[in-house]
Amino acid sequence: AKDPVRVLVTGAAGQIGYALVPMVARGVMLGPDQPVILHLLDIPPAAEALNGVKMELVDAAFPLLKGVVATTDVVEACTGVNVAVMVGGFPRKEGMERKDVMSKNVSIYKSQASALEKHAAANVKVLVVANPANTNALILKEFAPSIPEKNITCLTRLDHNRALGQISERLNVQVSDVKNVIIWGNHSSTQYPDVNHATVKTPSGEKPVRALIADDAWLQGEFITTVQQRGAAIIKARKLSSALSAASSACDHIRDWVLGTPEGTWVSMGVYSDGSYNVPAGLIYSFPVTCRNGEWTIVQGLSVDEFSRKKLDLTAEELTEEKALAYSCLQD
Ligand code: NAI
Repeated sequence: AKDPVRVLVTGAAGQIGYALVPMVARGVMLGPDQPVILHLLDIPPAAEALNGVKMELVDAAFPLLKGVVATTDVVEACTGVNVAVMVGGFPRKEGMERKDVMSKNVSIYKSQASALEKHAAANVKVLVVANPANTNALILKEFAPSIPEKNITCLTRLDHNRALGQISERLNVQVSDVKNVIIWGNHSSTQYPDVNHATVKTPSGEKPVRALIADDAWLQGEFITTVQQRGAAIIKARKLSSALSAASSACDHIRDWVLGTPEGTWVSMGVYSDGSYNVPAGLIYSFPVTCRNGEWTIVQGLSVDEFSRKKLDLTAEELTEEKALAYSCLQD
């Protein structure tokens, strides 16, 4: 039998945490033959609720779940973890300045970075979900210099999956027959969902989405804004933010990273930019990637037309500003 993998979920008493931990315990993230030990972290005001989640995990009698560490101590939570899913953060409350929210998250991610660096397994793979996800991941990277930068990522897979969903609904095809959309940039409303290289499996072979949807106005307008604003639409409908789709996408992100992407398929991940596609190096930016042997590689050589170029640059500019804001919080 395989040794258990230790998976940390921060913010585990929150709503994404509540959807995510049973998925991990059922093998959705790491595979149906991979035992896991869950490490759950939250803050003291949520300690009782966190213990309730632990009780339910026991009650669910998951065969793959070999242990649960539920704690408000960041060192205990980080010790020995192989995968870290960072869902905990400080939410933006009404009337709060952007800088105040950033400042709270910078200090959280700075201290959790140090704990991971000192206590996690050497090859820990980190996925930041909490917003501002790209910039939280960048702060984590800065304050965990001994963790390889390739091991620190943020979640844009939910946006990627939303784009697949929109194309599948529009064409009335199975979502599993659509592939190779791209989310470029920030997990925010400036992200660019790009279908220029996406394809659909049809009875007469694989066809470009651009050939099947001739409506450029829709592809360059409503499609993009629907994906960009889907989070807000969910909040409006549910009075709560996306949780099951966020949790499911976090599982997709880690599963593909660890177990590999299917041949001919890429996915979107927020990763440390090396300057590919003239995106400024040193930002955490969402790119199309393929994964093999536990490592992601940015897909190279895709054409970027003028319309797309502007969108790639716009979301990069926002990330550059966020980075500056985060650094200004460090100086205060
Ligand atoms: P939530 O408010 O239900 O849960 C957050 C949890 O984090 C709470 O239990 C809170 O006590 C905990 N927490 C706060 N500070 C912490 C700390 N320093 N250490 C550990 N835990 C801490 O929020 P929800 O809905 O679960 O969302 C979590 C985050 O994920 C939010 O920042 C949200 O904006 C983000 N998000 C990101 C998505 C993405 O695609 N990247 C999609 C959806 C949400």
